Amino acid sequence: MNADQPAAAMPTLPRVLGYLRPHAWRFAGGLALTVLGIGLDLLKPIPLAVVLDVVLGDKPLVPLLARGLAGLSDVTLLGLAATAIVVITVAIGAATVGSNYLTIDVGQRTLKFHLKQQTGDLLFRVMADTFSIQGMVMNGLLPLARSSLMLVGMFVVMFRYDPHLALVALLVCPPLYLAISRLGSRIHGQATASKQAESELYSKAATAIGAVKLVQAYGREERSAADFRRGSEKSLALSLRLYSTETLFMLIVDSVLAVGTAVLVFLGAKHVISGQLTIGELTVFLAYLREMYAPIQTMSQNFAELSSARAGLDRVFSVLDVQADIQDAPGAIPLPPVRGEVRLEHVTFGYDEDRPVLRAINLEIRPGERLALVGRTGAGKSTLASLVLRFFDPQVGRVTIDGYDLRQVTLASLRPQITLMLQDPILFHTTVTENIAFGADLPFEKVQEAARRAEAEPFILALPQGYDTVLGEDGADLSGGQRQRLALARALLREAPIVILDEPTSSLDLGTEALVWQNVEALLRGKTSIVIAHRLSTARQAHRIAVMEDGRIVEIGSHQDLVRGGGVYARLWARHSAGADLTESDLIFAKEG
Ligand SMILES: Nc1ncnc2c1ncn2[C@@H]1O[C@H](COP(=O)(O)OP(=O)(O)OP(=O)(O)O)[C@@H](O)[C@H]1O
Ligand SMILES: [Mg+2]
Repeated sequence: MNADQPAAAMPTLPRVLGYLRPHAWRFAGGLALTVLGIGLDLLKPIPLAVVLDVVLGDKPLVPLLARGLAGLSDVTLLGLAATAIVVITVAIGAATVGSNYLTIDVGQRTLKFHLKQQTGDLLFRVMADTFSIQGMVMNGLLPLARSSLMLVGMFVVMFRYDPHLALVALLVCPPLYLAISRLGSRIHGQATASKQAESELYSKAATAIGAVKLVQAYGREERSAADFRRGSEKSLALSLRLYSTETLFMLIVDSVLAVGTAVLVFLGAKHVISGQLTIGELTVFLAYLREMYAPIQTMSQNFAELSSARAGLDRVFSVLDVQADIQDAPGAIPLPPVRGEVRLEHVTFGYDEDRPVLRAINLEIRPGERLALVGRTGAGKSTLASLVLRFFDPQVGRVTIDGYDLRQVTLASLRPQITLMLQDPILFHTTVTENIAFGADLPFEKVQEAARRAEAEPFILALPQGYDTVLGEDGADLSGGQRQRLALARALLREAPIVILDEPTSSLDLGTEALVWQNVEALLRGKTSIVIAHRLSTARQAHRIAVMEDGRIVEIGSHQDLVRGGGVYARLWARHSAGADLTESDLIFAKEG
């Protein structure tokens, strides 16, 4: 899957910050308070030093200073409050990325992309990976920012006490850097692999759950379960591997810091003995050292956290980065209300560029004309129809409506002018009424009328709550023909000048089809239409019939012309009229396929 390659467009970090931009003020406020908190933290060991030097040494007490400073640690609480604010901001940020992902996805992702992606994988990316941003900012970025500032501050103070010791304290940095650069990329790689495995597991689960009937019918439960088990074992193994690397990393960091501390205590004691430092100063120094190493420790822990969060984010971004290849061109104009002249000029198109599904198609449909598309399964009929809606752009040639190249007009002005009924009706998990109206704000009477015209009312009324029945819930599953009639009702409600029906009645019995068809006729009257049909009796009613074979239009003309022409269509028709059983010969194309 090409979507798994990391986003090349922009590094992850700036992008995360980009998503937080709407919350920039809160974020900046939080950060400012954090800085204040750090300043106060830096002052913390000083009262102790003053007290020690007064008690053990003979320096004068500066009461004002001591009291002032003691109170200050309370103010450190402010720092905590600040962190809380930032955390909230981050949560909002994560939600923004999530919803952003969803809207962009529904609105702009191409069909091609969706067809390639596994639902489970997409789901995982949205649900789990998006929350990586929360992990990244909460456990990674913020502590990292805080620790770095703290480190700089402490170093400055320590340097003023004893430059020599301060520099020695820094000697731990090179080995730490080595550990980070060596193990860092390994952690990132392992985290990516682990997320990938988890994601595959989601895909497996989603597929198995979706296909539960099939799995049971074929007695494949054991296999399906074993498959899932294998997937989860793999995922577990990868998580363990990641965990061990992270632990190793932290172990190295801890050891380096322990050695560093030991060396400094030793040197510090010598400096006190030689009089370079007072005991108070050494205390401050050691307190600082502890505090300075603590952020290093957090940083390295966070670093592991950051690496795996980044792996998750890379996956989210790689989805966002799939450019919608069907987009409004710069300077696209709105398509004015059309008369409905549809033309395909030398159109060649393939879902993969090197495997054309449509080859050099020339086709002109006059306004108000009805064209039937017939041909074997896989000939390219649905594909041709989808080009008229500009679901895809042809690789060669162009598609025009009323002379407007579809690439030059806005999608928002194009698609409302076309009514589409898909080959596989899509219904939503909502009421029958909403399924028919499909977002249009219509009075219920209109919905009811459409349902009647599609011969759907009888079965709708037989559902538990009639029109208010939520589809897909207990007892509200529909047959193929019933689904088709609901989709048809939906299409009947649209008043668009161009109509595309892909096998609108293929799942209906002949009796119902005849009833429904009268109303389809009414829908098509006066409109430009493309009707894809397996049944010759349906095709015959069109003004012209185009016969497709292997991505080409091999014959086109009226029923009479084609029968007279003596080609493919004529042969099929001859068999049809030879008195073969109606149902059988009617479906002749399906059988030929
Ligand atoms: N989303 C897709 N990605 C890749 N190939 C596709 C896709 N959809 C269809 N195809 C291929 O394009 C070819 C034409 O498919 P199309 O759906 O247009 O055929 P059709 O004439 O509508 O067939 P049917 O009568 O079975 O509906 C087929 O070979 C099919 O495998
Ligand atoms: Mg089709």
